[in-house]
Formats: sequence, C-alpha cells, structure tokens
Amino acid sequence: MARVRVRHVPRGAPVSPRAAAVIVDVLRASTTLAFARANGAARVLPAATKEEALALHAREPGSLLCGERDGRIIPGFHLGNSPAEYSADVVRGRTLVFASTNGSIALACARTARRRVLGAFVNAAAVAEAVAAEDEVEIVCSGKLGEPSLEDASLAGWLCRMLERRGARLEGAAARCVTHLAPDDATGVRPVLEGCSHGRYLRRLGPEYRRDLDWCARVDALDRADEV
Ligand code: MLT
Repeated sequence: MARVRVRHVPRGAPVSPRAAAVIVDVLRASTTLAFARANGAARVLPAATKEEALALHAREPGSLLCGERDGRIIPGFHLGNSPAEYSADVVRGRTLVFASTNGSIALACARTARRRVLGAFVNAAAVAEAVAAEDEVEIVCSGKLGEPSLEDASLAGWLCRMLERRGARLEGAAARCVTHLAPDDATGVRPVLEGCSHGRYLRRLGPEYRRDLDWCARVDALDRADEV
C-alpha cells in the first residue's frame, strides 16, 4: 500500500531515496517531456540555469538545448517548452538538455528519489498504475516561481484520488487538500488550465501558446509513464 505525500513547491527536505517521485509541471514541462519521451527522446538532462544547460550541451555532443524563460524559447536554444515542438522526427534517439523555469527545479529537487516519473494529465492513469505498488510516493509540484500553482495541485489531487482508490494512504495536509482541487472528470481539466494564472499568461502570449493548453488538457493521451 503506497503512502503518498505532496509538495506544492519544490523545496524543503530532500525527497526520500526510498520514494518514487512524480514530477508535476502541467504547464508545461512535465507534459512536454512526457510527449518527448513517448516520441523517442533517449535521455533528459535537467539544468537549473541557461549556463548549466550550455555546459551540459558542450559535454553532450548531439544533444538538443531545450528550455524557456517567461514561457518563450531561450534565444539560441533548439527547442522551447511546447509539446508540439517535441515530435518524433525531432527528438527520436536524442538527449535533451532541458532548462525550464519551474519544471527543471522540481526535477532537481527530486534528484534524491529512487525514481522520477513524469506526471501530467496526459499520462495520469499510466502514472498511477506505475507507482501504485510503491511503498512511498512523493508528488513534487513545480508551482510557479516558488509559489503553488492551481494546475499542478489539481493534477496532484487527480493522482491522489486514483491512488486512494488503489488503496494508497494520503499523508499530510497537502495530499488531503489537493484531492478537493481536482476536477470531477476529464471535462473539467481544460477549464482549470484556461483559468489558472499561467494558463491565462500563455494565452496572452499568442495562438501557438494557446494551442499548448490543448496539448496539456488531453487526459490520458499517453498510456505510458516515463522516467527522467
Ligand atoms: C515550465 O517549467 O514549464 C515553465 O515554468 C512554464 C512554461 O514553460 O510555460
């Protein structure tokens, strides 16, 4: 029976080395990377800063420099943080050096976990299946710039409900709280992404960013739970 905890933001004590960490950044890093891995990306190397990404890229010939700041591609990088960019013809077999504003921080926060599973609405059922037999599960939400985000808490609640139905025990106030923030069914996901702060910001950036909300709202479009 899994014991499930939730972090609203990626800070605090190191994640237990016994735990399976689920990395959540619905808008957009964990969604983007879930599609990238499903499309054949071989490895993901998280980087907290542009400088760290450039150093990793120099050591990894043939890797792709990926990431955003303020939602837009980092100038000089190959890819930004839109799922649409990570098609199989672009990423198959490639190493991705990945430096997003918040998702990369969550990946770093969970570096001590026994495994790091990419969690998003697009692969939620597969993620629940992948971690249900774990003793310890820690859902690490990225939030935004150190503050909790509604979309990440909503997915954390979505996962917690599925895990509870499989006999998991929720530990701590954050885990119990997020179950009340999850939509009742898949039709409620898009309104959460449209209405949350970062979703509204992305919509203001332009139509290609607005289309990213379509990608991120595709509940269980992927039947796999990939790790980083
Ligand atoms: C992310 O890490 O996903 C960024 O914080 C937000 C974005 O890329 O829109």
